[in-house]
Amino acid sequence: MFSVRIRVAFGVITALVIALLSSTAALADGPWPNDPQGPQAKAIADLYWIMFVAAVGVLAIVDGAIIYAGIKFRERPGHVAQQFHGHNFLELTWTVVPTLMVVSFAVLSWQKLDFINNTRGGDVGMVIQAQGQQWQWTFSYPHEDRFKLLDGTYLQTSEQLDITVGTKVRVELSAKDVIHSFWVPSIGGKKDAVPGRATELWIQADKPGTYKGQCLEFCGDGHADMLITLVAHPVSDYDAWAVAAVKDANRLIDPLTKVGHDTFLSLACVGCHTVKGTTAGGKIGPELTHVASQKSIAGGVLSPVDEANLTRWIKDPPAVKPGTKMPNYNLSDQQIHDIVQWLLTLK
Ligand code: CUA
Repeated sequence: MFSVRIRVAFGVITALVIALLSSTAALADGPWPNDPQGPQAKAIADLYWIMFVAAVGVLAIVDGAIIYAGIKFRERPGHVAQQFHGHNFLELTWTVVPTLMVVSFAVLSWQKLDFINNTRGGDVGMVIQAQGQQWQWTFSYPHEDRFKLLDGTYLQTSEQLDITVGTKVRVELSAKDVIHSFWVPSIGGKKDAVPGRATELWIQADKPGTYKGQCLEFCGDGHADMLITLVAHPVSDYDAWAVAAVKDANRLIDPLTKVGHDTFLSLACVGCHTVKGTTAGGKIGPELTHVASQKSIAGGVLSPVDEANLTRWIKDPPAVKPGTKMPNYNLSDQQIHDIVQWLLTLK
């Protein structure tokens, strides 16, 4: 039979091991802090682990001493519980050691914060703006000519932020309505986006991949769904992404097609058709997102998809295909022309 002392010690150790193992299992699935993917996240994770290990050490020593004293000095047959008053060495120790620890943590944190907050360092390779709004992030790329659009503005995207691997990226934050917070855990720190105030942080991904982020300041009903998808491209792929993104964005603002786009969205078309990237989300008719790349329209009746056939179709659908659910909206020739010009850009 084991002595009480051994059994208690065994119980405490078992509980500690279970607690540690279960927290490790939980962390293994999460992105943080055991899986940093950039220098900034690594700095934070390092600090976390230093403090974690120190805290576990303190826990073991303090709890160990309490348990030891509780067992050794307890009242039992033939032994009166002992009382102690004052112990210079012990009191000095548990004052000086924690003070040293806390001061070291403060110095360490200070150093890391210096590194984390250095958003203006000379090695910044890219600057992106992120605006929080209930409930999504909008990213714009206003500092490089390759992101310039036809109308002189710069590329803007929603929800997805695209950067290159190994580049220090400064993210300039703003908020349109309430306070939001930008956080991509495995890449970097967290920073609030505050209405009327400019804040910024920097991020850097060391490996290509997609990293999930989340608004981390409660901002209303949609807060939990205010997500960030950070895509880190290899440098060699980034240009291709940029060219494609700019081309897509230009399609919608080209003055030649913008009128048609606006006309389409202002009419009943949107009730039946979906065009991805626009507000048209109808489900009754065929999706038109890539209609200009199709072989035919009207269920195969009209081919190829060109100006003449699109015009003929929109002008009087039932005349082309008796029984079709798309009615004749009696649009003017100008409206039809504008819409067709836009549809032809949907590739
Ligand atoms: Cu935006 Cu929470």
